[in-house]
Amino acid sequence: MDRYGVFGNPIGHSKSPQIHRLFAEQTGQVLSYEPLLAPLDDFAGFAKGFFETGLGANVTVPFKEQAYRLADSLSERAQRAGAVNTLKKLEDGSLLGDNTDGIGLVRDLRDNAAVTLEGKRILLLGAGGAVRGVLEPLLAQRPAVLVIANRTLSKAEQLADEFAELGPISASAFEQLQGPFDVIINGTSASLGGELPPLGEDLIEPGITFCYDMMYAALATPFCQWAAMRDAPNRDGLGMLVEQAAAAFELWRGVRPESAPVLAALRRQLAG
Ligand SMILES: NC(=O)c1ccc[n+]([C@@H]2O[C@H](COP(=O)([O-])OP(=O)(O)OC[C@H]3O[C@@H](n4cnc5c(N)ncnc54)[C@H](OP(=O)(O)O)[C@@H]3O)[C@@H](O)[C@H]2O)c1
Repeated sequence: MDRYGVFGNPIGHSKSPQIHRLFAEQTGQVLSYEPLLAPLDDFAGFAKGFFETGLGANVTVPFKEQAYRLADSLSERAQRAGAVNTLKKLEDGSLLGDNTDGIGLVRDLRDNAAVTLEGKRILLLGAGGAVRGVLEPLLAQRPAVLVIANRTLSKAEQLADEFAELGPISASAFEQLQGPFDVIINGTSASLGGELPPLGEDLIEPGITFCYDMMYAALATPFCQWAAMRDAPNRDGLGMLVEQAAAAFELWRGVRPESAPVLAALRRQLAG
């Protein structure tokens, strides 16, 4: 059977096996998809062993940068991201590295939540791997401005410099931000610790500003709660997770699965 999987450490929490099983059922594709606990000290050796028989894999924390180095060729968006979340074995046996996180975010915002990004003022919180991975696809939507704010300002400034040729991008400290914005995307890991970056009251225009947390949880994340308390429409990152998986599935199988029923199933399970 055609073999796929997801590399991570830890990996037990991953929803990817369930998502890809549902995609395969829905599209009539016959394949297996396993969680793969890769060793922290030999990701490359483990991945190469898998690809002796495997056809494709997703890559999650903490291996996305190592997968970038392992790939023989890279999509442009993976090259820009400096990280790979999807590997595909090509016919000549070489490994193609792609990064579908950014397109997953854009599709969830644009197609699932009907949020227009073109011509909008977008604020992106954080400057880690997740933010770097979404910059190119976000700028491709032609926002009016894209401001990156981060606790460590120098990291935001470095990203803004690196991506400046792709669109109107700038960096700011949280305290210097001037709102309101049309869309605010939280790409910090603050929510993981139940925290929030220091966000001013003028960033949100009630009823207008759309707030998106890349993190997801059974209950509203601290960032989604912050938005809801200010009457801002909001959404968590479960849809981004499903959409990045759908883009990976399409790269491997040439078939685009429908994400809505899979997202609904995951949401029910998370709530339950
Ligand atoms: N839904 C999805 O499919 C998906 C995909 C990828 C990532 N994510 C989520 O995206 C988030 C970020 O992941 P990552 O890989 O980019 O992490 P990362 O590389 O470790 O970066 C973490 C970022 O969060 C900032 N930060 C951490 N704690 C903070 C706090 N208390 N206050 C303010 N800023 C804080 C850091 O600021 P400093 O630079 O100052 O340290 C840094 O910019 C995670 O929640 C992850 O679950 C979701």
